[in-house]
Amino acid sequence: MPQITIPNLREKRANGEPIVMVTAYDYPAARAAERAGVDLVLVGDSGAQVVLGYPSTVPVSTDEMLMMAKAVRRGTESALLVSDVPFGSTEESDAQAVATAVRFAKEAGVDAVKLEGGNASRLSRIRAIVDAGIPVVAHIGLTPQTATALGGLRAQGRTTETAERLVREAFAVAEAGAFLVVIEAVPTGVADVLRDGLPIPIIGIGAGPAHGQVLVLHDLLGVTEGNTAKFVKRFGSIGDDTVAALSSYAAEVRSGAFPGAEHQYSASDEAVAAARA
Ligand code: KIV
Ligand code: NA
Repeated sequence: MPQITIPNLREKRANGEPIVMVTAYDYPAARAAERAGVDLVLVGDSGAQVVLGYPSTVPVSTDEMLMMAKAVRRGTESALLVSDVPFGSTEESDAQAVATAVRFAKEAGVDAVKLEGGNASRLSRIRAIVDAGIPVVAHIGLTPQTATALGGLRAQGRTTETAERLVREAFAVAEAGAFLVVIEAVPTGVADVLRDGLPIPIIGIGAGPAHGQVLVLHDLLGVTEGNTAKFVKRFGSIGDDTVAALSSYAAEVRSGAFPGAEHQYSASDEAVAAARA
C-alpha cells in the first residue's frame, strides 16, 4: 500500500470514503494494523490503561508514551502515524508543547501528534506545534485527560451549553491548524452538524458515522476485561482466546503432555553417552 498522506485524508472525505483509524501500542499491533490496511494508526494514551495498567490516562509519562510510539513506528509503513502527547506534557506553555511534540517527531518518528481540548490555551498549543512544522490532530468532546473537570467519563454535547461549546471548539481547532479532529462520546445529531461545514475531517468515537472511526485496539479485539463504553463494538475475542491458550499450556505442562516428542531435540547415542560420562 502507498503511504497515506494528509491530502489523501481530505480526498477520502471529499469522495465520501470513510477513514479508518485504530490504536496500537507495540510492534505486532502495528504490523497487524498495516496488514489490515488501516489509514491511521494512533499511539493512544489509552495504552496507559490497556497496556500499562494505570487507572486512567493521566499518570502515563512522556518517556512511556515514547517507548510505545517507537515500537509502533518500527511496524508502521503506509498508515499515517499519530501519537497522543500525555497529560502534563503540553499544559505549561506553548514552548513546552513544542518541545514535547518535537520529541515525538524526532525520537519516535511520528507523523503527527494529537492534543486533547479546544479552549483558548489548547488552541495556542495547536498553533505553536503546527507553526513548528508538526501536524496536529485535535480531540474534543469527551477528553479523558481532563475527565474529572468534565464530571467524569460521560458523553458531552447533550446540553445546549456543551453542544454549543463542541461546535465552537470544532471550528476553533480547525482554524488553529489541526488537520483532523477526533470527536469522542457526542450525540450523533450534534456531531452531524459538523459533517458538512467543518473544513477538516472528523474521526468519531461514539459520535455516529462522522468521516471515519477510531477504536481502542484492545476494546475491539475483546482484550479489555469488564464493561466497555457504549460506543465499543467487539470484533474479536482475543482476551478469552488468550486465557484459553494459557490454560491449555498450563494443563499440558502439569500433565506432561507438553513437550511432546515433536518439540524435543535428539542427539546420537554417543553424544548422550558422552554427556552422561
Ligand atoms: O487514547 C486513545 O485511544 C484515544 C482514542 C480513543 C481516540 O485518544
Ligand atoms: Na487518548
